[in-house]
Amino acid sequence: MKNIAILCSGGDVSGMNAALKRFVEYSIGKGLTPYFVNNGFEGLIDNNIYKAGYRDVAGIISRGGTKIRSSRSKRFMEQSYRKQALDNLKAHNIGYLVVLGGDGSFKGMQALSDESEGLSFAGIPATIDNDIAGTEYCLGVDTALNVIKYAIDSIRDTASSFSRAFVIEAMGRECGYLALVSALTSGAEMCLIPEIPYELNDYKSCFKKQIQEGREYFIAVVSEAMKNSEDVAQWFEEEIGIESRITVLGHMQRGGNPTVYDRLMAFDFVTQAIDGLLEGNKSSVICYNKSGFNHKDIEDVAFKKYEINAELLKLGMEFGCHI
Ligand code: F6P
Repeated sequence: MKNIAILCSGGDVSGMNAALKRFVEYSIGKGLTPYFVNNGFEGLIDNNIYKAGYRDVAGIISRGGTKIRSSRSKRFMEQSYRKQALDNLKAHNIGYLVVLGGDGSFKGMQALSDESEGLSFAGIPATIDNDIAGTEYCLGVDTALNVIKYAIDSIRDTASSFSRAFVIEAMGRECGYLALVSALTSGAEMCLIPEIPYELNDYKSCFKKQIQEGREYFIAVVSEAMKNSEDVAQWFEEEIGIESRITVLGHMQRGGNPTVYDRLMAFDFVTQAIDGLLEGNKSSVICYNKSGFNHKDIEDVAFKKYEINAELLKLGMEFGCHI
């Protein structure tokens, strides 16, 4: 009988605990023995690996974060530590490994895969940044978007009461997806992301006209990649003549009770991962697109650049002034 392990790597997301629950239950159902690796790749190196059972996943489905913790491992970039990790997996007779994480984690998985014999990997894209090539959806994005939606809706209440411009900074690392979708679905007046060139002064005449016509407040959503929240807030004060405030949403975007969609997606991703491993896939990432789930080579995912869907980008280009 083969043993199967799971770990979380990189930034945690809401939905990881739902994935762990499914992992334990589905593995056992398939006649496998499930193992947890605590602390991501760090835990693989330190042999922080243990057998998991139903009790380990009881009551965790509604919690954000990850029960088995995560890490960004620098040591794992060194071959000697990867060898240690492989020895630990071998000692536990683990033949399958499921990794929840982003493209950095998949690169680590690829290195391990190249150096291992008889160990099969499946990657599950899990990052609020939604910046992994080959998949339109990464686990945790829906919850993060809902957390942001709630925050912006709340900020709108106070912005409208005080006639202010609010510059709201969303996470996403180098990718504007979170900021773009949040700006669109919150009815923001401005959205600045790295994928769309902008000129602040192009907004000037229409924002001033809108004020003359009765507009009392503005919501601007900017991606953290822009590093320009201060400049944008200052621009509102100096060029538009409206008092401004900045809200950096920060790590609250990574937490919270996972949405129904993320819980269901967690279940589906894990089912696909385990089925793929049992069917003989050696090293693949489970991707999700309009056509459904598909399994792609790590190479085609981890080493390619993610591009925001063209339709969404087109909507993003409608921000700004068209008068
Ligand atoms: O990758 C997820 C993410 O939350 C990014 O959006 C953000 O830039 C980064 O992680 C923050 O990293 P840390 O939690 O290490 O501060």
